[in-house]
Amino acid sequence: MSTVNQGSEFKRLWPTVVLERVVPGHENTNRALSRLIQELEQKHKNLTNDYRSDNLLATKDPALTWLRECINITVRDYFRETLNNPIPGIFFHLPHESNDLQSSDSAAHPCLAKEGLINQTFLSHLDMRYDIRWSLHGWANINRFGDYHDYHNHPHAYLSGTYYVQVPSTLERLETRRDVRPGRITFYDPRSSVNMIAIKGDPYVEPEHTITPVPGMILLWPAFVNHFVHPNLSRQLRISVSFNVMLRWSEDYLPAQE
Ligand SMILES: [Fe+2]
Repeated sequence: MSTVNQGSEFKRLWPTVVLERVVPGHENTNRALSRLIQELEQKHKNLTNDYRSDNLLATKDPALTWLRECINITVRDYFRETLNNPIPGIFFHLPHESNDLQSSDSAAHPCLAKEGLINQTFLSHLDMRYDIRWSLHGWANINRFGDYHDYHNHPHAYLSGTYYVQVPSTLERLETRRDVRPGRITFYDPRSSVNMIAIKGDPYVEPEHTITPVPGMILLWPAFVNHFVHPNLSRQLRISVSFNVMLRWSEDYLPAQE
């Protein structure tokens, strides 16, 4: 007996993938990062705004080496998820926080290299025939009371992300609107106005997605996605490291011409 849904296929097209993870065992390294970033700010007062002036992730420092490794592994996980379905049960291992970060040997671990890489052997299950290479550019953000970052995206990057070093635990008691969401980050649906036709129950009814950061969290998203960093309403510092992932261009990335 034939039914009307025979031969039907539901396709969910054009998803936007945002990766959210908390790196286990980040506490000691975050303390080191917090000290380091505050020391850098002593020398460079506009550290947060002058994000192009230096590449924090190229700085020689054990805590930053650890962070770079975490980011590169997270980028690899992102590619594995978005290029095709992942192989169940196979995961990259995030680096364990170590008290002997000083002994980290960047030559010994491929993810500690300055340039990120997924080689085609690793992706052979996806029938990939090319390598993917990228570089990272990072900068520190120190947000004090009232600081926020307006609605924006990250032009000329492939992916963008943030790692949270220090998140305030106490907020100021303010007589303010109840819809304020201090210290959070909101992402906006890049398909402008899709929610105009969404009804309750539709996953796209909300045109925005808000995340409450915690220390040790890494977020990674397509660089074209607009986002907004809500004001810090605490007297405690909010410290994070933002970064861009730039692909090293290769002709191999182009789809084959038919
Ligand atoms: Fe941003």
